[in-house]
Amino acid sequence: MKHNMITEPATTATTATRKVAKPAVYFLILLLSYYLGYLSALIKNPSYDHPTTTKVNPPPQAVDVDHYQFQTQCAEPIPPELVRQTILTRIFNGSSPYNGFPQPHIEPFLRQKRIKGWGSTGLVFKNLIQKVKPKTIIEIGTFLGASAIHMAELTSQLGLQTQILCLDDFRGWPGLPGQFRDIKMINGDTMLLYQFMQNVVHVNATESIIFLPFSTGSTLERLCEWGVLADLIEVDAGHDFHSAWSDINRAYKLLRPGGVIFGHDYFTVADNRGVRRAVNMFARVNGLRVKADGQHWVLDSF
Ligand SMILES: C[S@@+](CC[C@H](N)C(=O)[O-])C[C@H]1O[C@@H](n2cnc3c(N)ncnc32)[C@H](O)[C@@H]1O
Ligand SMILES: *[C@@H]1O[C@H](CO)[C@@H](O)[C@H](O)[C@H]1NC(C)=O
Ligand SMILES: *[C@@H]1O[C@H](CO)[C@@H](O)[C@H](O)[C@H]1NC(C)=O
Repeated sequence: MKHNMITEPATTATTATRKVAKPAVYFLILLLSYYLGYLSALIKNPSYDHPTTTKVNPPPQAVDVDHYQFQTQCAEPIPPELVRQTILTRIFNGSSPYNGFPQPHIEPFLRQKRIKGWGSTGLVFKNLIQKVKPKTIIEIGTFLGASAIHMAELTSQLGLQTQILCLDDFRGWPGLPGQFRDIKMINGDTMLLYQFMQNVVHVNATESIIFLPFSTGSTLERLCEWGVLADLIEVDAGHDFHSAWSDINRAYKLLRPGGVIFGHDYFTVADNRGVRRAVNMFARVNGLRVKADGQHWVLDSF
């Protein structure tokens, strides 16, 4: 196809010019394909220098090691009192994202309060908050804020000054608009983040709940670099093995001494998607014991 298109003009030309044009065209094609090959190699491997570079076999153990290796050492922990301001500065250019919320063009799409979660008010939350008395909580997977709001209520009942960091890209999952028709979509953009914010505003928890609206992987790595650690970490984002495995591994590095990490879907129908296998593998590799509390798994560092 490509060949025909390029040689076509030559076939309509005179015999004399064809004699000259044909070799020239072939030479051009040769040159072009050589250049394209070089370009694509460059894109795949920026350090690519010459097409005759010898093939390198990966060391046999590299894949195994990477599977267990997440981030190196986190930065020195910052004091819990500085956590909120650090997030505002680093993520929201220094001011609260709740300021001026909801904007007039967003308001018509929101319900006053629309909270739905899964096992979000289980006893495990009360048990762990009473035990740990956390100053900082990290929640990985927030959705409409059901569990975060429940934790905010528990900590305020106990008179704790707890900051709750909600990590969620607030995209939900493919197919969400069909399942949650009252979470509106505008030009393909789900209003999940705004409905979550509205829920937080509705229960007057904007001072205790702040959100980090990005992918869990990149956010957990940043928190580690910023020294933002937590006493209590809840894992409830992606439920396939690889999502759960990487979330748990990254989150565990953010746990303060004496802290607890726990998560949803150890004892529900969603188990087989991988959460239980990820939790069990993590416990085995790190010499920890898994405890169950209702539908949740709990890992103590001891
Ligand atoms: C089961 S819901 C969380 C429910 C919430 N903990 C509750 O009990 O109310 C899972 C959430 O994880 C989020 N999520 C899944 N994978 C994610 C990822 N890789 N990065 C950021 N958020 C993610 C989805 O947007 C969704 O809101
Ligand atoms: C961030 O804040 C500074 C001053 O507080 C302001 O000048 C700047 O425009 C802000 N940047 C954005 C992206 O809003
Ligand atoms: C909302 O919370 C603030 C503190 O965060 C408190 O001062 C205020 O009284 C609360 N308002 C209501 C209506 O509960």
